[in-house]
Amino acid sequence: MPIPALEIEAQKVLALNGRGKNGSAVPTLWSDRFAQRTQRMTSSVIRELLKLTEKPDVISFAGGLPAPEVFPYTEIEAATERVLREHAKTALQYAATEGYLPLRELLVRHMSRYGIKVKPANVMITSGSQQGLDLIGKLFINPGDRILTESPTYLGALQAWSAYQADYLTVPIDDGGLDVERLEAQLRGGPKFLYILPNFQNPTGVTLSLERRRRLVELANHYGAPIVEDDPYGQLRYEGEHLPPIVQIDAELHECARAECEFTGDVLYLSTLSKTLAPGLRIAWVVAPESVLSRLVQMKQGADLHSSTFCQMVAYEVAKDGFLDRHVKRIREVYGERRNAMLAALETHFPEGVEWTKPAGGLFLWITLPAGLDSTELLREALDQEKVAFVPGASFFPRGGGERTCRLNFSYARPEAIDEGIRRLGKVLKKKIVRGRG
Ligand SMILES: Cc1ncc(COP(=O)(O)O)c(C=O)c1O
Repeated sequence: MPIPALEIEAQKVLALNGRGKNGSAVPTLWSDRFAQRTQRMTSSVIRELLKLTEKPDVISFAGGLPAPEVFPYTEIEAATERVLREHAKTALQYAATEGYLPLRELLVRHMSRYGIKVKPANVMITSGSQQGLDLIGKLFINPGDRILTESPTYLGALQAWSAYQADYLTVPIDDGGLDVERLEAQLRGGPKFLYILPNFQNPTGVTLSLERRRRLVELANHYGAPIVEDDPYGQLRYEGEHLPPIVQIDAELHECARAECEFTGDVLYLSTLSKTLAPGLRIAWVVAPESVLSRLVQMKQGADLHSSTFCQMVAYEVAKDGFLDRHVKRIREVYGERRNAMLAALETHFPEGVEWTKPAGGLFLWITLPAGLDSTELLREALDQEKVAFVPGASFFPRGGGERTCRLNFSYARPEAIDEGIRRLGKVLKKKIVRGRG
């Protein structure tokens, strides 16, 4: 049976590869008619990933899936019933591209609690943040434009923007997030915009420190470069203090943080209900100045007219009386426990010489193997010998590299499975290291 987590990850890489499910192109009348831009979408990890999906009994740390145990089934069922009983005519009808106003108002209130001061006119609902990224690409990227990203970065953004023929300027990250000391050199390369994941970054799990957030904003302002801040995980913090979002720091820099002041608009902000409610609803939002929002609306009209009104209304009904905050607390408990389980298992089962990040939140941690080991090789052996899966890190690097790195998800598997999976992976690694010495 295919493993959904792996299937999704595989599809992302597949789309970069532009090939069929069995890895080969099927000749049809369409075969030589693909747009030129699709030729630049290449990758290499896919075949391994696809093989994984066909194996039974695999413990998977590969996908980025929320735990189905924490989906609020009862609340969604009750909300669905209410929407159909009280608002069926609206819920089932076409609607405004910007999205359902009560939901946008609710999101404005929600964001204001963590420092983002905007109006509903600055918010557009999207079909997942993935669509927000795609629409940003559609609106801003000309072939050959340079986008400045962290390295490694979110694979789905590369997938979206490579389709618009983006090039990438990259800045490495360490335990404190983006290495701001190396940012300036890349800013001189004239990026169209910066793409930053400040909280519990996908794929590494690291968080950009406050000091670095400030320096980033200063430098971006100095070079006149706008920022796209992608923040799906900000609320999923398991320890430490919340840090202000980049959009807020930018407002402060412009002495514009008081409630009556418009936000500067230099930072586009994306977030989603995928990790705090359910990804199947496909409800996310983008925050932009009105002049940009109206253009994003045009881009979205061409894509899907609007996000599902029905799902927006259900999301609103679920979230409106403070349920979201209570629910996020529960998610934090469950995922915090799973993160701890993975960190403890790594300490117990992994050999010396392997390093990993210790994320304060989010869904992922990041492994760096000792010199001489390759994570794609490791994946092949881990699957064959021990039926355990993860994503090799190389595909998260826009300009290559990362062959010794792996992304591990800790939200999906239960703590017992996490311990067992890490034990199995440790076993494969130990054998590899001993073989390497021999
Ligand atoms: C950094 C980042 N951005 C965007 C997304 C897409 O999320 P959504 O489900 O809202 O499309 C993800 C999903 O994993 C993500 O990790």
